[in-house]
Amino acid sequence: MSISNEARFITFEGIDGCGKSTQAKLLLERLNARQQPAILVREPGGTRVSEAIRQILLYKDTDELVDRTEALLMTASRAQLTREVILPSLEEGKWVIADRYSDSTLAYQGGGRNLDLEWLIKLNTFATYELTPDITFLVDVRPEVALGRQGLSKDRIEREGMEFQVRARNTYHELLKRFPERFVAIDGHQDVHSIQEQVWNEIIRRHFVQS
Ligand code: TYD
Repeated sequence: MSISNEARFITFEGIDGCGKSTQAKLLLERLNARQQPAILVREPGGTRVSEAIRQILLYKDTDELVDRTEALLMTASRAQLTREVILPSLEEGKWVIADRYSDSTLAYQGGGRNLDLEWLIKLNTFATYELTPDITFLVDVRPEVALGRQGLSKDRIEREGMEFQVRARNTYHELLKRFPERFVAIDGHQDVHSIQEQVWNEIIRRHFVQS
């Protein structure tokens, strides 16, 4: 069993409680088990600066945060993570698995907050140094199912409730149509193992690893 040397950038997306973080971790473990160097990052966060921004975005008493500030802070956190961690890792030949990336801004600040999608796409282009994922897995679940999986202590964005998650999910579905090469939707109502098999099969289908 050998693995291609080329570094890959794989992102996981979906609404809160969809199960993407579990899938991202399982993929990392699977790659590590094959001696493929890989790292896992999460957004917003993943660097000292980005984690400080995460605190403002999610946990500090910042109810006055306006939508555009929210979008700018999400993408500021992304720029720091991309330049400090993701790009150097890819250059070293490591795979990077990201628990959320640019599409979260499109779904949440675009769909959720109704900010203009085309503006946000440009902002993402700037923040990511034009990096796009090789594959984006959308772990798709109905909002009522996802909401039931969330813990009791909700962050500032989770507190927005059901309608917000519905708009975010609808935007993810639009992105699926807009970027069909990159996006792969997986039914997140299945069990953890079945979802992981679909993730892995897609990676094999694209010859990113040899089976
Ligand atoms: P997440 O890390 O998935 O939450 P948790 O720590 O509970 O697993 O994401 C934090 C929240 O930030 C989530 O509600 C989605 C939101 N978010 C945006 O609104 N825009 C973005 O660009 C990103 C990356 C996240």
